[in-house]
Amino acid sequence: MFSVKELVESSTMVSVPSNYVCHKTPEDSMLYYETENIPTIDFHQLTSSNSNERSKAIQQLGDKCRDWGFFMVINHGVSETLREKVLREGQSFFDLSKEEKMEFAGKKILDPIRYGTSFNVMVDKTLFWRDYLKCLVHPHFNAPSKPPDLRETLEEYSRKGKEVVEELLKGISLSLGLEENYIHKSMNVELGCKMLVINCYPPCPKPELVMGLPTHTDHGLLTLLQQNQLGGLQIQHKGKWIPVNPLPNSFLIITGDQMEILTNGKYKSVVHRVVVNTKGTRISVGTAHGPNLDTIVSPAPELVGDDNLALYRAIKYRDYIYCFSKTMNSKQRLIWNV
Ligand code: OGA
Ligand code: NI
Repeated sequence: MFSVKELVESSTMVSVPSNYVCHKTPEDSMLYYETENIPTIDFHQLTSSNSNERSKAIQQLGDKCRDWGFFMVINHGVSETLREKVLREGQSFFDLSKEEKMEFAGKKILDPIRYGTSFNVMVDKTLFWRDYLKCLVHPHFNAPSKPPDLRETLEEYSRKGKEVVEELLKGISLSLGLEENYIHKSMNVELGCKMLVINCYPPCPKPELVMGLPTHTDHGLLTLLQQNQLGGLQIQHKGKWIPVNPLPNSFLIITGDQMEILTNGKYKSVVHRVVVNTKGTRISVGTAHGPNLDTIVSPAPELVGDDNLALYRAIKYRDYIYCFSKTMNSKQRLIWNV
């Protein structure tokens, strides 16, 4: 495996190798760019003991999930020190020698620790300008033993992130008219599969020729994401690509495919992609919070009725992940009659 980082650092790279050059479709460039304000959810309000304030925040949360599938969370209570540490130590993993990193090269999609490159090298026809480290952090915590402080930092970060996401899941359950712990219980979030991904996008001499990550959706319920100072994430909203410029100290939340299935399409997973830049290495850290791997996910019976038929087939989360690994558009396969 040749990582993008090693490619960029090798003196032999004079231009972008042809296997990284993306053939962009007309839609890729047509859907250009609308600068719109990304919605914000105030975590402080969402957890307020003032019930008026909380209801208002829950309603907003539901509206944003329905209209965007994407939002920033402010006042989340996770310290900037910890967030910066994760980005710094995440980056330092990629600074290890090639031999050290290769100790963690995983082959299979659910390997507890997996260092790799591109999106899925088994199926990618074009390679993507990204290296990654994926760790299953829940229900069992896994992380590399080096660099020395990484493990401890990721453990604390995962714990803090879990608290934020579980509060959001409560708010989302309520916004759907369900009981507060509905998603928690029905998806067995207590033993949920959480996968933390550190993405490393080295600078590229010709960013317009490549993609950091292709157009895709995330597979879990919600992904909690933060990035260093370099942007590059774009989300699709009403047929346009919107570049994401998060507020300082905010987390980004991406709605995933299991949320779409569970809500019978009311809250759709958001389509997104990543572009790269010439200036420097972009680091992002995302944690996909999903159901337990053995949970069968189907539209919530409470959200389905005679005039609102189930649009998705039931599937075990583990099977969904395997299906997702082979295609970027796995969700389409689950929609009835498609
Ligand atoms: C992902 C992803 C976005 C980013 O890892 O699935 O979409 O900003 N990452 O790196
Ligand atoms: Ni994603």
